[in-house]
Amino acid sequence: SQIPVITIDGPTASGKGTVAHRVADQLGFHYLDSGALYRLTALSALRRATDLADEHALAKLAEHLHCSFQGGDIILSHENVTDAIRAEEVGNTASKIATFPAVRHALTGLQLGFRKAPGLVADGRDMGSVIFPHAQLKVFLTASVAARAGRRYKQLIDKGFSANMEDLLMDLQARDDRDTKRSIAPLVPAEGAYVLDTSEMNADEAVAQVLKWYAGST
Ligand code: C5P
Repeated sequence: SQIPVITIDGPTASGKGTVAHRVADQLGFHYLDSGALYRLTALSALRRATDLADEHALAKLAEHLHCSFQGGDIILSHENVTDAIRAEEVGNTASKIATFPAVRHALTGLQLGFRKAPGLVADGRDMGSVIFPHAQLKVFLTASVAARAGRRYKQLIDKGFSANMEDLLMDLQARDDRDTKRSIAPLVPAEGAYVLDTSEMNADEAVAQVLKWYAGST
């Protein structure tokens, strides 16, 4: 179809959420936070005490997620879980269950459904490589582990969670390892992706760069 898609992939806490959201706002496009879908599945599994090694049960949960995105709020079965899914435990669980092919497969249709006129900005790990391989613009947003840990620390404190810098560094490293080394949809720059290192860049500058690339691609 002709509906344009911009994919913004990258490691955890690289700033892709903020950048993708703002690019979508600027262009009047829809926004897909694909990580939220993995987090919703993880939260669901934690709440139901689903065996986190049971690929089939987890895929079932993913397939039957009752979720909706209303403005900035994320609703799971009538409950506002916008903040709850940001907890570190949920993120870590999400990254574990994301290694299961059946879970990824179960979430594919849901993700494709976000592509609606006038366009979509999709953020995640495999948006450009797997879900939207023909995207008009693909960006791989990255930053040093230290820069990302610093941002995540601030995010957690701002949201009223407690945070410890050393734990965050270790968690980030572990999550990077899992995301880049898994055999299915590993985190790698998609073919044709522009790589943007935001270690020394603020969100305004990153947004401006993505918009510039997009303008050049149309
Ligand atoms: O981006 P976010 O940190 O919210 O994603 C949580 C986890 O979900 C990631 O660590 C990653 O393992 C997984 N994920 C994924 N594919 C995506 C988005 C997220 O595997 N497209």
